[in-house]
Amino acid sequence: MPSASSDKYTNSALRPGDVDPYPQRVVGEFLGTVVSNHSVNEEYKHVVLKVHEHALKAYAGQMFHLLCPSPDGAEVWMRRPMSVYRVDREAGQVEFLYKTEGRGTRGMAMLDPADDFNIAGPLGVGFKLQPSWKNIVVLGRGVGLATLAPLSQLAAEQGVGVTAILSARHPGVVMSKELFEGLGARTITVLDSDNSSAVENVEKILEDLIAQGRADAFFTCGSSRLLKLMQRLGKKHNIPGQVAMEQIMVCGFGACYVCMRTFEIDGKRVLKRVCRDGPVFNMQEAVGW
Ligand SMILES: Cc1cc2nc3c(=O)[nH]c(=O)nc-3n(C[C@H](O)[C@H](O)[C@H](O)COP(=O)(O)OP(=O)(O)OC[C@H]3O[C@@H](n4cnc5c(N)ncnc54)[C@H](O)[C@@H]3O)c2cc1C
Ligand code: FES
Repeated sequence: MPSASSDKYTNSALRPGDVDPYPQRVVGEFLGTVVSNHSVNEEYKHVVLKVHEHALKAYAGQMFHLLCPSPDGAEVWMRRPMSVYRVDREAGQVEFLYKTEGRGTRGMAMLDPADDFNIAGPLGVGFKLQPSWKNIVVLGRGVGLATLAPLSQLAAEQGVGVTAILSARHPGVVMSKELFEGLGARTITVLDSDNSSAVENVEKILEDLIAQGRADAFFTCGSSRLLKLMQRLGKKHNIPGQVAMEQIMVCGFGACYVCMRTFEIDGKRVLKRVCRDGPVFNMQEAVGW
């Protein structure tokens, strides 16, 4: 007997403009249309997708699971997780900033305008701003900056001041400076090439910001060294913080337990799923990697 079609489940991803049969659901599968896919520097690319309005519910720190096209004709097994870089609700677009690492992101780098790109999400728990925070400090490195960048959008919407410390190997790979500054954030760039990214120097910058009353909360992603520094200063000055963790993922929604990491809560070690319980966690509970 042929199986009856169910009105409880959709069997195809939603395209921009489609009627959403389940507007109340949190997560969906969407066929975005590539608007542009440009290199931003020698290592990173920026893809802009026109998406169904449901996908625009994504907020800072959440991710999508991307069905990357094949770079070579062979199968690319499983989706790849990627933080949302920017949500432009007026234009109906979501954006990702990515580094070409392996076959998935190499396939992504080959996307052209008007191509379809299948994304599932928004997934996970993102950043949250407390109403009492007036000034926050964002400290990121490498691709971690892609994850932190939308915080500037969230902060701007809530009238919160942002100081973003952007750490990179050299000036050619500093990222997201324009995005942060365009939304009113103050940026400080620190580099390996002139040793300004050394922990002692970043610590001095953070201590100065604390003394100036510009650090009601800390946010970080992309470096274990910087996480440990912020944890130490957060404890010393009683400053709360959040960290976005990265972990290899398979399902992306909590079913497979591949993405477990250790956290320390009230002196006890516990395991949590980065995809579902995070990827954003209380900074003081994270055990560095
Ligand atoms: C929550 C989250 C948010 C992320 N956001 C971004 C982002 O905004 N921009 C971006 O460029 N990358 C981001 N990543 C990393 C991205 O998922 C990996 O670069 C991607 O999966 C690599 O796939 P690939 O097929 O190109 O490479 P693969 O051949 O699968 O792997 C290449 C290299 O990337 C590492 N890698 C693979 N999967 C992951 C993973 N899930 N997390 C970390 N490293 C991985 C592998 O260990 C290997 O060293 C994020 C990862 C997570 C978990
Ligand atoms: S990736 Fe499957 S539980 Fe997190």
